Amino acid sequence: MAKAVSRFVCQSCGAVASKWAGRCEVCGEWNTLIEEAVEAGPGLAKTKPAASRKLAFVDLAGTAEPPPRAPIGIAEMDRVLGGGLVPGSAVLLAGDPGIGKSTLLMQAAASLAQAGRRVLYISGEEAVEQLRLRGRRLGLSNAKLELATSINLRDIAAALEAAGDATLVVIDSIQTMWMDSIDSAPGTVSQVRACSFELIRLAKTKNFSIVLVGHVTKEGAIAGPRVLEHMVDAVLYFEGDRGHQFRILRGVKNRFGATDEIGVFEMTDRGLAEVANPSALFLAERRGNISGSAVFAGLEGSRPVLVEIQCLLAPNAGGTPRRAVVGWDAGRLGMLMAVLETRCGLKLAATDVYLNVAGGLRIGEPAADLAVAAALTSAATETPTDPGMVFFGEVGLSGEVRQVAQAEARLKEAQKLGFESACLPRRVARGNRQLATPAGLTLQEIGHLGDLVARFTGKAARQSV
Ligand code: TYD
Ligand code: MG
Repeated sequence: MAKAVSRFVCQSCGAVASKWAGRCEVCGEWNTLIEEAVEAGPGLAKTKPAASRKLAFVDLAGTAEPPPRAPIGIAEMDRVLGGGLVPGSAVLLAGDPGIGKSTLLMQAAASLAQAGRRVLYISGEEAVEQLRLRGRRLGLSNAKLELATSINLRDIAAALEAAGDATLVVIDSIQTMWMDSIDSAPGTVSQVRACSFELIRLAKTKNFSIVLVGHVTKEGAIAGPRVLEHMVDAVLYFEGDRGHQFRILRGVKNRFGATDEIGVFEMTDRGLAEVANPSALFLAERRGNISGSAVFAGLEGSRPVLVEIQCLLAPNAGGTPRRAVVGWDAGRLGMLMAVLETRCGLKLAATDVYLNVAGGLRIGEPAADLAVAAALTSAATETPTDPGMVFFGEVGLSGEVRQVAQAEARLKEAQKLGFESACLPRRVARGNRQLATPAGLTLQEIGHLGDLVARFTGKAARQSV
């Protein structure tokens, strides 16, 4: 007979402890341990050996075809998914509340339904009237969606058992789902884990794709345990700045495609519009000939994206100088400033530094170093960068400028958007591969950050570099 015991589960990392403590020993978070009841099973060691079955090993090559996919019909989303939804797969769509997850999924669901596929949309957060209101706003009232509101997993599972021919099931959101056999509130680790497990199992056996919506905590992690990320086949983040209309769909895990792909959307008053050419959008409000601005030729997944980096230096009013960064890594900014000070003699230590990636994009690439350094130097010398120039390159601690991946793709994008020159690391030909330079682009290859600074300081002030 199984014995009911209780345990304490960290709501932040999912670690289990036998007794309560104020602080989780695994992740160090405070006040995250919550008591949950468990049914202790007999344990693997105590089951009879006869219960095991022989494993059948197979070879790596196999004969299976790549999984067939159901394209959603929203190109930006399909690309992030790796070409559409894979039947039987589970996708977690995470994002801040109010960022537009439900909007995106309703548009995706409607698009699939218009292609004649069956889509079930189950919401635990909104009433049917609210969903209809959104549908009306999106101009999708005629889409053949099957809407339901419920948080009870028993009811939902029964409905899904009977819906074997569905292509997509949307669960909005996993944190509202509740399984009556578990003695804790919706949104706790046990509930999130058990509900996801059941929903994913149903998706695999019935061969429909399931999208689970997950909220993100203040710290930016998916609320609930990390195990959720391990259970699903793909994790997509929907992010953006609420003050901006851009939204970025970012793949961070994908068992059926490449990660680091992004899809760019614009939130309009009639829902999310796809942005096929994000560079033009990110650069739309750029004003040339202002010091402290440099255009970075970046790469998001397989796609080059140009974005403006802005830097403002202000005299420090006493006390510790401020370093405020939006859209980039603050530690990396500190490192670059140290390199500029120590290796290139630029005086920055006593000024407040504000760095901003225009448009609300978040950059993770070290390749942005050179563009950030150009924006900083431009601000410090009050000399605008050439408005027709893009920058990319990684900077090392001795000030050397290093190669970055896919220089050619970045140059091509710059040329496509009408830029005339590029400042980049010195290129080295590998083997007999020719270095291609897109026509109409002048390249300024630099080996050391000092060369960049000299371009600003070596000329008369206020003249373009
Ligand atoms: P929503 O999809 O409800 O966000 P989430 O599911 O991630 O919590 O979107 C919420 C925001 O989007 C809300 O502030 C209103 C805005 N919005 C628009 O600007 N245009 C629209 O057409 C829609 C439907 C929403
Ligand atoms: Mg929502």
